[in-house]
Amino acid sequence: ATYKLLLLPGDGIGPEVMAGVQTVLAALAETGLAHFETEADLVGGSAIDAHGKPLSNATLAKADAADAILLGAVGGPKWNGVAYEIRPEAGLLRLRKDLGLFANLRPAICYPALADASALKRELVEGLDIMIVRELTGGVYFGEPKEITTLPDGSKRAVDTQVYTTAEIERIAHVAFDLAGKRSGRVASAEKHNVMKSGVLWKEVVTAVHARHYAGIELEHVLADNCAMQLVRRPKQFDVLVTDNLFGDVLSDVAAMLTGSLGMLPSASLGAVDARGTRKALYEPVHGSAPDIAGQDKANPIAMIGSLAMCLRYSFGLGEAADLVDGAITAALAGGARTADIAGDGSKVLGTRAMAETIAAE
Ligand code: NAI
Ligand code: MG
Repeated sequence: ATYKLLLLPGDGIGPEVMAGVQTVLAALAETGLAHFETEADLVGGSAIDAHGKPLSNATLAKADAADAILLGAVGGPKWNGVAYEIRPEAGLLRLRKDLGLFANLRPAICYPALADASALKRELVEGLDIMIVRELTGGVYFGEPKEITTLPDGSKRAVDTQVYTTAEIERIAHVAFDLAGKRSGRVASAEKHNVMKSGVLWKEVVTAVHARHYAGIELEHVLADNCAMQLVRRPKQFDVLVTDNLFGDVLSDVAAMLTGSLGMLPSASLGAVDARGTRKALYEPVHGSAPDIAGQDKANPIAMIGSLAMCLRYSFGLGEAADLVDGAITAALAGGARTADIAGDGSKVLGTRAMAETIAAE
């Protein structure tokens, strides 16, 4: 089959790391394992420059029609002055919201060659392979009311509201259990049922989904604060970790620091499975547009290329092609290939292009 991929390189280092994806796609086409029709379009600051807004309706329509979307990064100092509603990040938020991308998958993998770059000791992180599944379109970031009001004495009162429904928790729980079935078969669910009603419901619904559909999977409940501690104390105890929007934001950043550089971390944002058995999906590196190194061939393309591997795996079920790409990243690192962000003393530093070519060759 030929799949339609929409490439949204975006701003700053976005186009540079996306070029790395195209290098790897060309190598993949030669293997005969995966063929893609690609189309590129603008998002973020580059779209503001061209159309006056960070995501045009035409681009959104293309995103809706594509089999999957790969996005580089958006934003940068050039657009600091634009109105809040049309800032570059608003384009990305609209894409996530309008496509209903409720499940954010963030792997934290420690490559053996980079274990010494972790915030933790080598023996704690060597072989680490965690998948954090974060709920992305609900919870306290979206719940109403959300406001700051002024009290009679002139001081203020701020309100954010944590809201979750059974349906929202069920669908993210399914994503986590399905993933665990293809991995080690273990899920940890993090909430705070001891102090939050949303935590009580979260635990109840995850427990029910598990009992009804996933007898073969091991489920453990962990309080979110304890989970943060365990991630630093003994991270390899976790495989799939499912949690809400707020706790997921924090816990995935903690997990990220176990693995080395921001330039290494891919992510996937998935929507619901539709009647045809397909789902909307957007793949992007965790990092931003890195204006400090943009345009200098210094960016690490591994997070972006790893996002392509996730796309092959989760959107198209091309496990063999995905393993090939992941394996090529591991092999390139094992062979000593380093961009500046992951270079140790004395290692030879490659630019963005050379790193992508090394991975493509592997
Ligand atoms: P950033 O992730 O762009 O950069 C943070 C630091 O990490 C910088 O020193 C940068 O050089 C380095 N870095 C990031 N990616 C790298 C890579 N692939 N290789 C080597 N080094 C890398 O975060 P920052 O500086 O807070 O934000 C810069 C801009 O990016 C802002 O406009 C921000 O709003 C935007 N941003 C966009 C995101 C997205 O598109 N999803 C996510 C985060 C930030
Ligand atoms: Mg965050």
